[in-house]
Amino acid sequence: MDFDEVLNNRRSVRLYKNKIVERIKIYKIIQAGILAPSAGNLQSWNFILVDDTEVKNQIVTAAMQQDWMFNSQIIVICSNPENTKKFYGLRGEALYTVQDCAAAIENMLLEATNLGLGSCWIGAFDEKAISRILKLPDNIRPQAIITIGYSDETPAMPRRYNLDGFVFHDEYGKRIIDEGFGVIELSQKSKKVNKGGLFDKFKLKWKKQ
Ligand SMILES: Cc1cc2nc3c(=O)[nH]c(=O)nc-3n(C[C@H](O)[C@H](O)[C@H](O)COP(=O)(O)O)c2cc1C
Repeated sequence: MDFDEVLNNRRSVRLYKNKIVERIKIYKIIQAGILAPSAGNLQSWNFILVDDTEVKNQIVTAAMQQDWMFNSQIIVICSNPENTKKFYGLRGEALYTVQDCAAAIENMLLEATNLGLGSCWIGAFDEKAISRILKLPDNIRPQAIITIGYSDETPAMPRRYNLDGFVFHDEYGKRIIDEGFGVIELSQKSKKVNKGGLFDKFKLKWKKQ
């Protein structure tokens, strides 16, 4: 798959085949996570593979009973602020560790797509419960859970807002007419597109500066 295909094909998958993902692929996905940039290259992350059925059950319950998760390989991505805090203080602890983990997670989801696997980023969970279930030390924080599996659905791409709604020039809120906007149509490549939602309500008021 070329890179644009990977970017466009990655979808949040919430229905998986009853087929175990080969361990080598799981480690390849984690390796992709470790290739992400991190503040000072301190790599403030840990990855916890959840294999035990009972632990998995508890994780699913702590993740607001999103039962579909059960049929996947669950990986919990935790931040480990030990070194980042030493080097960068509060900013390192509170911000860089979160960003390190988010960068790793996105790399992992893209690698899963590249390997022909479905994945989903899970943020809705009871943090205290996850920490207890996984016996996390006090300073280790679960940032996200991801699910990996053989997809049993082909979700349509949820619509994205137009690029021009997010981009400002030189100062917050300042928009200009820029011919480059017409060229970038990444989110519109998919023919199957969900209708409705915020996208359709969003009306950009062009203001020629
Ligand atoms: C921080 C974060 C938390 C998320 N939490 C959940 C979740 O708990 N459950 C879920 O089904 N999807 C979750 N998602 C997936 C989003 O719903 C999904 O990325 C979004 O709807 C766009 O769809 P796409 O990933 O197919 O492009 C989360 C995504 C992010 C980035």
